[in-house]
Amino acid sequence: LKAVVRPARRDDCINFIDIHCPELRRHARKERLAKCGWWGDEEACVFLLRLYRGLGGEVFVAEVSNEVVGEVEVLPHSDCLLGPRAYVNVLWVKEGFRGKGVGRALVGEAVEWARNKGFEALDTIPEEGSEGFYGRLGFERVATQCKAMVRAGEAGGKAPAGVRGVHAQDVPAGMLLAAGTYRPGLFTWFAAWFDTFTRRHHPIAYEVTDPEVGGGPWVLLLDRFSRRGASAVVFTRGKPGCGEVEAMARAVAEAASASGINQVFIQTWREYAGALRRAGYSVLRVDVPWLSLRL
Ligand SMILES: CC(C)(COP(=O)(O)OP(=O)(O)OC[C@H]1O[C@@H](n2cnc3c(N)ncnc32)[C@H](O)[C@@H]1OP(=O)(O)O)[C@@H](O)C(=O)NCCC(=O)NCCS
Repeated sequence: LKAVVRPARRDDCINFIDIHCPELRRHARKERLAKCGWWGDEEACVFLLRLYRGLGGEVFVAEVSNEVVGEVEVLPHSDCLLGPRAYVNVLWVKEGFRGKGVGRALVGEAVEWARNKGFEALDTIPEEGSEGFYGRLGFERVATQCKAMVRAGEAGGKAPAGVRGVHAQDVPAGMLLAAGTYRPGLFTWFAAWFDTFTRRHHPIAYEVTDPEVGGGPWVLLLDRFSRRGASAVVFTRGKPGCGEVEAMARAVAEAASASGINQVFIQTWREYAGALRRAGYSVLRVDVPWLSLRL
């Protein structure tokens, strides 16, 4: 198949729903946003394009005979603990157009983009089932992540000492992402504060000065997916040791509980799984592949 890959335009946004969830096209906006996320709504998708470009990233679409049939979303990941690199946040090819070289063409464009930006690696965490696809394109597993969860105490718990509330403008720029979702930290930060399309709850964020964590204050973002549930995103000044991650994980649970959040998910490097267990977290997965292509 001859796919033409080019940067996404505003007027492509109405078509993103056909790539990700065509079955929802005629559904109500609320349902499209709830089930398909940003891609389910034109306005949300326009917001997403602006967010990517504001962060120095890009979104490319693949067209076959003037039909948009796939997309790839790439970002600089300068706050990665493995060192600065580019990151494929999302890659999706429309059903019916898979297995015809569209995915390969999209990743090829992402590789060009990353090279031109001077990055030496393009990384991703694959969707379940697409590790083989990335392997075919030369990506190798260079690290592994784990996922964990903690049920924080009931609302009204004690906030950890040395905690200061921070806001959207207090961007943790120049810090490293020690734990978080799989997305680059600043993308997560801005999406948490400004995405009013798929999130109904404001995030809660703190700067924490903790005597057990060296290297200065760290920043905790509780990115809420519901009123009482959040993903914890942790920014640090340097790569933390296991003892430091354990102290941070305890502080995360205390801060969450003090803010009325009672369920916290966290994803980080597998070497920290033991630290999370010691801090009282249930480790849900220890086998999340982290792939990298050297450019
Ligand atoms: C993963 C995805 C982006 C691949 O895009 P695609 O257009 O289907 O892939 P391509 O046709 O460009 O394939 C490129 C190469 O990877 C191979 N490949 C594709 N999917 C593969 C897979 N799941 N496992 C192993 N190899 C795969 C192809 O055979 C092809 O090899 P070749 O060029 O050497 O013959 C696409 O399938 C997709 O969007 N899937 C939905 C999202 C997802 O990941 N779902 C999980 C699957 S259940």
